[in-house]
This record gives sequence, C-alpha cells and structure tokens, in this order.
Amino acid sequence: MKKSFIVANWKSNKTSAEAKVWLEELRVSEGNTIILCPAFTLLSDSKSYIIDHNLPVKLGSQDISPFEAGAYTGEVNGLQIKDYAEYVLIGHSERRTHFTETDDLVREKSKRALEAGLVPILCVQDVSVVPEGVKIVAYEPVFAIGTGNPDTPENADKVAREIKEKNSHVKQVLYGGSVTSGNIKSFVEMESINGVLVGKASLDAQEFSLIVNNVS
Ligand code: PGA
Repeated sequence: MKKSFIVANWKSNKTSAEAKVWLEELRVSEGNTIILCPAFTLLSDSKSYIIDHNLPVKLGSQDISPFEAGAYTGEVNGLQIKDYAEYVLIGHSERRTHFTETDDLVREKSKRALEAGLVPILCVQDVSVVPEGVKIVAYEPVFAIGTGNPDTPENADKVAREIKEKNSHVKQVLYGGSVTSGNIKSFVEMESINGVLVGKASLDAQEFSLIVNNVS
C-alpha cells in the first residue's frame, strides 16, 4: 500500500477560533502524511494544538518570502516559517494570477525554502521544468481549481508521470483541483500520483477527515 500525501490548503480562510474548532473535529489516523497549510497567523496556535493533542498532522505555510531576513515589510521568510512548519506551498496559481508571481520569483522562493530546510510543494499547471532540489510537485490545472470540475484521474496520472520523466529529481507529484471525499480514491490509486492537494473541501473538518479516511 503506497503512502499518500494529503495537503489541506485553507487559503485565506478561518480565524483562530475557527481553526481550533476544525482541529477539535478532525478524526484521522496515522498512515498517510497529512499536511495542513493555514494562514501565517494560524501556524503558531495550530502547532501547539497538534503537539498537545498528538495529532498526526504536519504544518505547511502557503507562501514564503523570496528574500532572506531584512527590510522587506510584510514578508515572512523561510527561517521564520521553519519555527512552525516543515512544508511550504510555492507558486499556487492564485498567487500567479492575483499577485503576478512569475517563474523567476517561484524559483527564488524555492531556493529560499530549501536554504531554510523547508520542503517546497511547488504548484504547476502543466509539465514544467522544476528547480533542482524540489522533490514534491503539485499538478493543479487552473480549470479544476475551485470549480467542481476535476481533471480525469487518467490525465492527471499522465501529467504526473511526464513531470517525473522531465525532472528526475522529482519523486512525488500530487494532484490538486476539486478533490473531494467522493473522488480522492480515483486519484491516489493512480500509479504516478502520490497524493492530493485539497482546497475547498479541506475547510470542513468532517469532509477532510472523510477524504483522509477514504484514501485506503
Ligand atoms: P480546490 O482547490 O480543491 O478548491 O479546487 C485546490 C487548490 O487550489 O489547491
């Protein structure tokens, strides 16, 4: 049985009170790698809750500064993130669209993440060139994000395989885009797919618990 990565991307949602309720309601067992990516403001409390309650959940941030520590108002750098998280999402299509992130910026962010000892989860929309050192990629076709219209498992598997063929350093490719408890299994059972990145369906603790428990 292969072990899957299941990433919850809360995007710009939840207050600290709402995050606490979600963590209280989560019902998941050990086995797969569950990674919660909340807003920066929620990382500290989430970390404490996870440790105190011995939850099988790791943390990731949703972004990272392309710079080291210094005079960059509003930015959160890799070492600051490392205090709380092990993973970092980089290059999500919403950042590329709303904040005009370019491939060059994404490369800089990946570099900073690796320097800080974080694991980058690099989001791509197609079979792209992935920077050296990045071992986890999330294939997220724009048409599937937040639309209720996921890619087919067969096509996602094909893209995942091609990403690995093009980038021999990439060992894990996740699929993201309208993943739910109803379709998770069809993606994770594909040969080249190593897990999923879940947006909307991760906001509800019961639905996310079902997603995790439906993997196997
Ligand atoms: P979605 O988002 O699950 O709401 O489609 C996925 C993502 O943006 O990572």
